[in-house]
Amino acid sequence: MLSVLALLLLLGLHTRILVKPWPQSPGCDEFLGSGKEMDKCGVCGGDNTACKLVSGMFQHSLSKVGYHKIVEIPEGATKINVTEMVKSQNYLALRSRAGRSIINGNWAIDRPGKYEGGGTMFTYRRPNEISSTAGESFLAEGPTNEVLDVYMIYQQPNPGVHYEYILPSENSVLQGSADDAGNTVTSETGYDQYGRPSQEGYEQGGGHRYPPHTPDNQVPAAQPPRRQREHNWKLIGTTDCSASCGRGSRYTVFGCVHRITHDRVSDTLCDSSTKPSAQEEPCNVQPCPAFWDIGEWSECSKTCGLGMQHRQILCRQVYANRTLNVQSSRCRHLERPESSGTCQMKICSEWQIRSEWSPCSVPCGVGQRSREVRCVSNVGDFVEDEECNMKLRPSDAENCDMGPCAKSWFHTDWANRCSAECGMGVRSRSVVCLINHISSLPLEGCGSERPPEVQACNNGPCESRTEWFTGPWGQCSAECGTGSQQRAVVCLMKSDEGYNVMPPYECSSLDKPLGQQSCHMKACGAKWYYTSWSACSKTCEGGFRVREVRCLSDEMTPSEGCEEGLKPEEKEECNTQPCVPQIDENCRDKYFNCNVVVQARLCVYNYYKMACCASCTRVAQRQSASRSYR
Ligand SMILES: *[C@@H]1O[C@H](CO)[C@@H](O)[C@H](O)[C@H]1NC(C)=O
Ligand SMILES: *[C@@H]1O[C@H](CO)[C@@H](O)[C@H](O)[C@H]1NC(C)=O
Repeated sequence: MLSVLALLLLLGLHTRILVKPWPQSPGCDEFLGSGKEMDKCGVCGGDNTACKLVSGMFQHSLSKVGYHKIVEIPEGATKINVTEMVKSQNYLALRSRAGRSIINGNWAIDRPGKYEGGGTMFTYRRPNEISSTAGESFLAEGPTNEVLDVYMIYQQPNPGVHYEYILPSENSVLQGSADDAGNTVTSETGYDQYGRPSQEGYEQGGGHRYPPHTPDNQVPAAQPPRRQREHNWKLIGTTDCSASCGRGSRYTVFGCVHRITHDRVSDTLCDSSTKPSAQEEPCNVQPCPAFWDIGEWSECSKTCGLGMQHRQILCRQVYANRTLNVQSSRCRHLERPESSGTCQMKICSEWQIRSEWSPCSVPCGVGQRSREVRCVSNVGDFVEDEECNMKLRPSDAENCDMGPCAKSWFHTDWANRCSAECGMGVRSRSVVCLINHISSLPLEGCGSERPPEVQACNNGPCESRTEWFTGPWGQCSAECGTGSQQRAVVCLMKSDEGYNVMPPYECSSLDKPLGQQSCHMKACGAKWYYTSWSACSKTCEGGFRVREVRCLSDEMTPSEGCEEGLKPEEKEECNTQPCVPQIDENCRDKYFNCNVVVQARLCVYNYYKMACCASCTRVAQRQSASRSYR
C-alpha cells in the first residue's frame, strides 16, 4: 500500500471535469418521466458544464510529525468532502486563511460534530467504533466565503486523503490549486500490486503501443473460383512483436498477390479457405532491462516516536511474460531505492518541566531544590509517567549548594545590675555562636575571638561598715508538734578587700537578728510513752525486767490512737549470761579430797569449811538457789 502511494506521488496533480451523468432518477424537475437529473453542479438537466468538480488525493509520505497542508479550498466552493481513506492516528484539521482555527487547531483535538467556518457548516466525523476502518472526514454544503486550508496532523504513515469540492465554472479545464507535492488525482491508469504503473498504463504513457495480435485474416468466404489461379496467398511479413524485449511472440502474415507479378491485391481475390494459418514465432528474445522491484514497508519498529521500517528491494527482469529474480548487479545502472526508512506512528508522550526550580531549602550549605516534571501526552494531557521514556526523565530534585555557612557571634545586652552593690563587681551577657543568614555581615566565622561575657562594673567605693549576717535556718528539733530551730548570726565588716568576721560587740549598735525560733511541724497525734526498765530478776542465767507502756494523746490523756504494731515491749529477758563462780584467792580447797568432805557433810564444821572453802561455798550456793525456787 505504502509504495502504491509513493509511486502515485510521481504523478502530478490533475483536475478533471466530470462528465459522467448521474444514474437515472425520476425527474429532478418533479415531472415524472422527464428523465431529467441533477448534475454535479446542482443544475437540473444540466451537463456539469455549469461547474467544475475539483478532486484529488493527498498521499505524500510525510516524515515530520505535525501540521501539513493538504489542500486549499477556494472561496465559493460547495459540496466539500475531505475524507481520510483509512482510519489512522492522523487527524484532519481546518483553518481559515486568516488563521482562525475551525477544526483541530493548536494541537487540540475536537470532538466530532458541527463546526461553523468560512460561511458554512462543517460536519466533522471520526468513526470510533473499533471495528470501523473508515477514516476521519469533514463535509460541508458551502458555498464558502473565504479561502480555507485543510491540514493533516501527521503522526503515522499517511493512508491518503481524498478531497473534492465544486466550483462555479469559469474555464473548462481547471488547474489544481493545491500544492503539487503529494497530491494526485486518481486516474484511469492501472497499477500493479506494488504500485508500479502496469505495463499497459506505462506503455501508453511512454508512447509505445502494441499492435493487435490477431492478423487481419477474417475475409468473406465467397470468392469467384475462376480467379483462384490468378491470385495466390504469399507470406508477406509478420505481426509486430508482442514484447519489445524478453521474448515476445509474433505471427506470420499472408497476403493475396498476383500469381505472376506478385503484386499485392485485395485479399478478397484469394480463396480464404486455402489461406495458410498464421504461425507463432518468438521475437525480441534479448533480455529486458533489469529493474528494482520494491516490496511493501514492514510495520514501524516503534509504536510511538521515531522508529524504523524496512522493505525488500529485489532486482528483477521480465522474460517470456514472467518476472524473474536476478543478481543485483544487473540493476547497478539504476539507483537502488532505500530498503529502510524512518517512521513514526504517533508522537510519544514527552516529559515536560512544569515549574522553575524551587528556592534552595537552606540559606547556606548544601540543601535540596525541586521542580515539577510531568509526562504529557501529545494532546497535552497529563498521563502516567510510564508512558514517557523513563530514561529521559529530567530530574525533579537536586542538591543545591548555597555556599559555606557563615557563622557569627550573637550576644545580648549587658545586664543592668552589677554583681556588687559597692566596689568592684561584674555584669554579664550571653554570647553564642550561630549560623547567620545574612552573608554580608562583617563578622564572618565565629573564630576564636569570642566576645567577653563579663565586664567589670563599679558602683562606687564601699564605706567600711559592720553588719549582722545570718546563715540559713537549721532543721526543726521536733518531727511533729512544736520544736525549735537555729541559725548562725555573725557580725561582719565589709570593705573593698572583702568581709571580715568581727566580735559581736562591733555590731551591737544594730538590731541583732534572732538566732533561734520555734518551729511547728505537723500535729503528732497519739504516741507510745514508756518507763525505764525495772531491775533484772536475776544476775545471771536469764532473768526478766519489765516497764510500763502507755498510749497518750497530744494532751497527755490516755488514747486508743496508737499503732499496735509499733507498741514497745513491756517485758524482756535480761542477764542471760551463764553464772560464773567467783574465784576467791582466800577461799580455796586446800585438800584434794574436799569432795569427800562435802559428801560427809563436814562443811558445817569451821575447820573443814576453811580447809575446803571452795567446795563448801559451792554447795551452800546450790542449796540456797534450790531453796529460792522451791
Ligand atoms: C466523500 O468522499 C468519500 C471518499 O471518496 C466517499 O466515500 C463518501 O461517500 C463521500 N461522502 C459524501 C457525502 O459524498
Ligand atoms: C502473457 O501475458 C498475456 C497478457 O497478460 C497473457 O494473455 C498470456 O497468456 C501470457 N503468456 C504466457 C506464456 O504466460
